[in-house]
Amino acid sequence: MTKIEVPETTREGLHPALAARFDRRDLITLEGIRKPIDGHLSAFRSYFREAMQSDIGLLDRVVTYLLRQKGKRIRPTLVLLSAQMVGEITETTYRGAALVELLHTATLVHDDVVDDADQRRGLFSINALFKNKVAVLLGDFLLSRGLLLALRYKDYVLLHTVSDAVERMSEGELLQIQKTRSLDIDEETYFRIISDKTASLISACMTTGAQSVLGEETEQTGKVKAIGEAIGRAFQIRDDLFDFGVEDVGKPLGIDLQEKKMTLPLIYALRQAAPSERKAIIRIVKQKRKGPKALRTVTEFVYDKGGIHYAREKMLEEANEAARLLDSFVASEARDALLDLVAYTVLRSK
Ligand code: IPE
Ligand code: IPE
Ligand code: MG
Ligand code: MG
Repeated sequence: MTKIEVPETTREGLHPALAARFDRRDLITLEGIRKPIDGHLSAFRSYFREAMQSDIGLLDRVVTYLLRQKGKRIRPTLVLLSAQMVGEITETTYRGAALVELLHTATLVHDDVVDDADQRRGLFSINALFKNKVAVLLGDFLLSRGLLLALRYKDYVLLHTVSDAVERMSEGELLQIQKTRSLDIDEETYFRIISDKTASLISACMTTGAQSVLGEETEQTGKVKAIGEAIGRAFQIRDDLFDFGVEDVGKPLGIDLQEKKMTLPLIYALRQAAPSERKAIIRIVKQKRKGPKALRTVTEFVYDKGGIHYAREKMLEEANEAARLLDSFVASEARDALLDLVAYTVLRSK
């Protein structure tokens, strides 16, 4: 497949803090973002690993493999940075970070069954290596261990925040499945899906971080929640854009189309098309097995109609919103790292 040219994103209207970061994009790395909380990640990691222990041999083997799949650890990083931005990191913060990463991991293990994906984080997915039934049960195990961790320490506020996210994640995924059947998804529904399936947890990370320092609801926790929602939407739009690309991101590409999942670039492109063209594209999307030529046709259609450009613009609007809200917090190393993370979310290549 030849490389498809992606139009440069316009800088117009970009929040100054983001524009500055776009200018030094090579310096925006996850290592840099983690720096203010680097010393705290090991405490998180021990809760995380501890929670996965089991004396069932098969489970132990699957968990060992799972720990070799290295994720970006964005969610625990968000918990820790959010806590540090509003005060001092506590022991509850570590458990919050472990809880969200456990839930996230459970979701990905389940998601690869749902999406029939055979790669994850550059390695085989659990379902590919150990079969669907093991993946489904492993996901349940991780989820319950996460909830038990919070219960054991009576972290009820945290448990509440995260359980709300789990509810929304399942609803978002199910709404998505509903829409792959009817294929009548509009932009508003797309935003509901990505808010629920992705932004809910990212926002719960930021809320959990703040709550682990400040306790229940305060004006600040409300604000970090909104920041998390915006980052989460931007994060998923970026992820959906990957699917139209050609870069190696450690998971299969073109899978959304293959699974009849219509994301923002395609939704927009279809809106721009004449009825006959729209019908022809939908007919391709409906096909059970789409060959490289069919996928190419849809991808080119999306590029031609400006779908990629439009989705990028929407993603940047979300990033702007997050940056604007972060502005209202006093300047600190943690706040700057969160601004870096907003930039990273939209600039990242994996
Ligand atoms: C992937 O999340 C799932 C989405 C919400 C798109 P990440 O890209 O954060 O996954 P890992 O943890 O780094 O693998
Ligand atoms: C990831 O969703 C799982 C959730 C956000 C619940 P996707 O299916 O869109 O993400 P990837 O691309 O497989 O990571
Ligand atoms: Mg999915
Ligand atoms: Mg998937």
